[in-house]
Amino acid sequence: MKKRYFCKRLYETLDFDALKVFYCCGTRTGPSCDIPNPKNIKNIIKKRNTLIKQLDKGIIPIECVGCFDLKEKTTQKSFFSNLFFTPPKANMIIVKHFKQCDCSCVYCCEQYLSGRKIVLKSKKSDYYDLLPIIKELYKQNMIDKKGLDVHFQGGNVSVLDEFEDLVSIFIKNGVKRIEIATNGIEYLPIIEQIAEKTFVDVNISIDAGTKETFKKIKTVDKFENVVDNLKKYAKLPILLRLKYIIVRGYNDSVEEIEKYINLMKELGIKNSELMIDQCDSEFMENGEFKIPTHYYELFTFYKNKCTQEGITPTIWEYIEEILTKGSFFK
Ligand SMILES: C[S@@+](CC[C@H](N)C(=O)[O-])C[C@H]1O[C@@H](n2cnc3c(N)ncnc32)[C@H](O)[C@@H]1O
Ligand code: SF4
Ligand code: SF4
Repeated sequence: MKKRYFCKRLYETLDFDALKVFYCCGTRTGPSCDIPNPKNIKNIIKKRNTLIKQLDKGIIPIECVGCFDLKEKTTQKSFFSNLFFTPPKANMIIVKHFKQCDCSCVYCCEQYLSGRKIVLKSKKSDYYDLLPIIKELYKQNMIDKKGLDVHFQGGNVSVLDEFEDLVSIFIKNGVKRIEIATNGIEYLPIIEQIAEKTFVDVNISIDAGTKETFKKIKTVDKFENVVDNLKKYAKLPILLRLKYIIVRGYNDSVEEIEKYINLMKELGIKNSELMIDQCDSEFMENGEFKIPTHYYELFTFYKNKCTQEGITPTIWEYIEEILTKGSFFK
């Protein structure tokens, strides 16, 4: 029998990055379409439909070869019925078509595109405006209104001119969940306005428990601003998560992690994520970056201390895998 394939991510995701629109999230280097504008929105849809049809016919697009998200089609319902093709609507939109930020973290993977320039005033994306594209996608009925999950990444949304308008159009159309990753330096009043209208997940990468370490990593002296804003966010009916990226030579010690957990305790924040600096994967020795042995101690300490303080210590499955393998590439 002929093999057919499907990819859940391809059916669901539109990932708006600076130079391209991807059809799956940034952890895969999947198929993409060049810089969009409302006039060529048809190209985004056309390419997506072609990819879905190819998989259905058993053809694997070159960008998808070997991807672990590619599945053989056994039970997945077909999008073809009575010879008509009804494409699935996107239910995951990732917003990162801008790279400007009001700080410049030493580890930031996005900053190569912004030249590490700190931008204090809200401005347009250097690449394209997303609002007209989203309007057009709604008009073309390509977005699953009830099931939509939106992730704001970037850059930092506090300096994106169309941020509030984008949030508003998603709210107006009945979005299911909005996730906002931000550095927390500027308070975002729109979060307060939408907190009761949809599920709001605010994810703040603070990476430190003290003013000094914060300044070294984020390169701006704004620790107190973040703490003040966290106190405000903590009062809202939202999911508030803090994030700590282990950056070698900056915060990779038990003492620094302890200060971060103490800060969380003081602020009453219950959800934490621990990550490894992904830039480490670029410093390869003999084709791979070996996880330093003291990282294992840090993760164990983090899990135990968080549990002791009633904080949920999330570690992504992907990070657990890297730790188990002992390296980024194996
Ligand atoms: C590029 S940032 C943009 C959103 C926002 N400015 C922020 O920092 O949360 C999106 C996410 O990527 C994470 N990130 C950026 N560079 C990273 C790196 N080198 N390793 C791991 N995570 C990184 C940030 O911590 C953040 O959670
Ligand atoms: S199969 Fe993999 S690379 Fe291709 S669209 Fe799906 S997630 Fe992306
Ligand atoms: S706050 Fe986010 S976008 Fe800004 S430099 Fe840090 S990681 Fe990059």
